[in-house]
Amino acid sequence: MGRPQTLSKIRVRLLLGFVTAFVFMVLFGAFSYVYFARIEQRLVFLSHADSMLNTVLEFRRYEKNYFLYHHEKDYQQALAYLGEFDGLLKSQAEHLSAGLGQAGYRLLLANAGRYEEALGAAHRMLGGALAGGDSSGELAAAIDGLRSAGQQIIHGCEVLARQERHEIQRLLRQYRPVMIAFLLCLAALGAVAAHGLIQRLVRPLKVIEDAAQDVGRGQFRVIAWNDRRDEIGDVIAAFNHMVRHLRQNNEQMIQTEKLTSLGTLTSGVAHELNNPLNNISTSTQILLEELDSPDLQEYHRELLAAIEQQVAKAKDIVGSLLEFARQREFEPSRHDLRAVIDETLKLIKGEIPAQVQVEVDAPAGIVMDMDKAHIVQALINLIINAIQAMDGAGRLSILARLAEGETVRLELTDSGSGIAPEVLPRIFDPFFTTKEVGRGTGLGLSITYGIIERHRGHIQAESRPGQGARFIITLPLRAGEA
Ligand SMILES: Nc1ncnc2c1ncn2[C@@H]1O[C@H](COP(=O)(O)OP(=O)(O)OP(=O)(O)O)[C@@H](O)[C@H]1O
Ligand SMILES: [Mg+2]
Repeated sequence: MGRPQTLSKIRVRLLLGFVTAFVFMVLFGAFSYVYFARIEQRLVFLSHADSMLNTVLEFRRYEKNYFLYHHEKDYQQALAYLGEFDGLLKSQAEHLSAGLGQAGYRLLLANAGRYEEALGAAHRMLGGALAGGDSSGELAAAIDGLRSAGQQIIHGCEVLARQERHEIQRLLRQYRPVMIAFLLCLAALGAVAAHGLIQRLVRPLKVIEDAAQDVGRGQFRVIAWNDRRDEIGDVIAAFNHMVRHLRQNNEQMIQTEKLTSLGTLTSGVAHELNNPLNNISTSTQILLEELDSPDLQEYHRELLAAIEQQVAKAKDIVGSLLEFARQREFEPSRHDLRAVIDETLKLIKGEIPAQVQVEVDAPAGIVMDMDKAHIVQALINLIINAIQAMDGAGRLSILARLAEGETVRLELTDSGSGIAPEVLPRIFDPFFTTKEVGRGTGLGLSITYGIIERHRGHIQAESRPGQGARFIITLPLRAGEA
């Protein structure tokens, strides 16, 4: 944010990468173009060399036919091809002297001249011989000279064609390693780019994703990766800013909740302690006033017993308060839910009136992580509440089922008095009770709520007054982190 554009910006690096690859390809393209132009030129030369060789073979064929059959037509054809060959020798002078060297080219020219002369002389001698003259010895010598010049011309043309072929092969051989080197460089460039991309983009994105998931789970941790000066660095900085903000808000929220429950707690403690303290105070005052009278000993004992009872009551309240505030160790282990429900019912059998029917619909084999003592305590609180709401007779059903996403759904439905809509939002508050003084402290549901939360579960209540209440609990099968 507000940082100057530097080389470390990802978009600048990407652009540099593309430009490098582009320049590299253009250079290789230009190199290939020059090479192929040279090869093409060589191919043109090769075709010239081939056509010269063909022309030579043609005039030599007519030459042989002429000396065999003595047709003037063959001699003329040989002369015509010879003329064509001369034309090629002159038009390709530059290429021929480059290919054969100056000396080679001059030799080829000389041989062509020699051949032409020998052909003309042999033609004249053959004409004389045919007319009756005797020149067979000279004719044979002229034909020999002619053939040796012809062979040398053929040899020169063959050398030229061979040289061109070799040159083309040499150029192709030279090109191959350059092409392989280019492909290797391109592969290396690609590998470096992929590695860079993973290092600079994919890995940090994974880190951000993990951190975002942690935030979703309520763990507000910042990403310790602040040496980045690029776009990812900016994203991390913005993410960390957001996490700090969320953490602050969350802490404030928890604080507000604590203060709210502290208010309820204080008024509950004050209210609950007020009665036993009033009673203690009244009993003590009477005791003080009556202290002088000698015949009231029995009455004094009664008063002292009342004081002790009220003190016990006050201690009871303080004890519950301490239990609420106490943070016990959370020790989860594997338990079968059905067995835990049965054990809880056995524990409070004595508190269930005969007219109250308890039905359990829970399959055996739902094995889950739980702190058994805590879950038993939570179930007791819920069952006792249900019994108290029923006023001696009714039905309580306890249902457990496996639910979506590796969770268990537990429902306790009673046929008691139900919960009034204005009361419903407050039932989990500490010290909230609708029961008469001395019957409830209002801590049962808040303790239960804490236990379910500790198991990373959720509890909620539904009710319509007069139609009973239902408490729905969801718990994960696996404990995980609290
Ligand atoms: N099953 C139920 N049916 C009707 N009302 C209920 C039921 N369970 C809880 N409540 C209401 O919720 C209030 C709070 O319950 P909670 O268990 O926290 O406290 P309590 O039962 O009043 O006191 P304690 O549990 O400390 O003896 C109860 O006073 C009652 O009004
Ligand atoms: Mg209760």
